[in-house]
Amino acid sequence: MIHLTKIQDLDRDNLSQIVYQALSFEQNTSSCFPTLRDYSLATIFQEDSTRTRCSFQMAALNFQMKYLDLNVKTSSIQNKGESMESTLHTLHALGVNIACIRTSDESLFSSLALADLPSNFHLINAGDGSSEHPSQAIGDIVTLEYLNDKTKNITLIGDLKHSRVYNSLVQAILLYSDDIKITLAGPSWGISEREHNYAKSFPHRIRVVECRKEEEMDEVLSESEIIYLLRVQRERHINDNDNNYSSCSYNKIYGINEDRFKKHNFLDKKTTILHPLPANIGTELDDFTQRSPNYKAYVQVRMGLFGRMSIINNLLNHQK
Ligand code: CP
Repeated sequence: MIHLTKIQDLDRDNLSQIVYQALSFEQNTSSCFPTLRDYSLATIFQEDSTRTRCSFQMAALNFQMKYLDLNVKTSSIQNKGESMESTLHTLHALGVNIACIRTSDESLFSSLALADLPSNFHLINAGDGSSEHPSQAIGDIVTLEYLNDKTKNITLIGDLKHSRVYNSLVQAILLYSDDIKITLAGPSWGISEREHNYAKSFPHRIRVVECRKEEEMDEVLSESEIIYLLRVQRERHINDNDNNYSSCSYNKIYGINEDRFKKHNFLDKKTTILHPLPANIGTELDDFTQRSPNYKAYVQVRMGLFGRMSIINNLLNHQK
């Protein structure tokens, strides 16, 4: 693997190796982590982030790497129109080995594939619009392995249409496992042709359930071992006619709340509830649910760190 711009950059062996190594990092104390102090990593974030940016930074620090955060707002990209290609060549000239990029431009990474980037320079997609978020998906696979002996099914709920997290996770699950069944559920405005195409391509693995009523969602939830709530991405609904719901009505039909949590007996069933964060509390889930032991979003954050450390180590090992 030279770059991680999409899940298709991986094969099953790569992915298994990265997950296995992430789990071994989780078991170790920091003194056992490899020392990569001859290497450096840069983050270039054109959209906001807490987890992805901080965990790449923490991953670099855990390896004693040099770390550089390009402030896009005050950079020459923002106000002088410098291209990403020129910016990356500049960072490479300064000694950077890995650039983690978050962007709203879904064509950026395919256009960079044509750029003549040096072979010892690696790109990581830290989220591009509604397209992909491969490092989140890898952290989520590590989370599934960490929490469960054998995951049988996962239900992803909500604004699938705008979710890069879901898009990368579905591909990663299909690549990683031959067994896990996937249900994609939510309101009709959250489900697009992309989701239906997944179900058509993998009819024995993936189903799509468009729910209009609370009872339809309850039926889906009653069969779910792992529930993965997706953030309603209001900032990406600007050109859609689908933002006329209230948080309360969304939560009642598609979200998890105290009544629903108790009705389905999630506590005794040990149903795992995941969310990539940040969550809209009151929309995807309520305060009761986020305080429950079933809610493992911060385990996802922790495993995301080990997943990202493993991605970095894998990219740099390719170079050695
Ligand atoms: N899950 C995730 O990508 O979070 P951030 O947007 O805060 O990085």
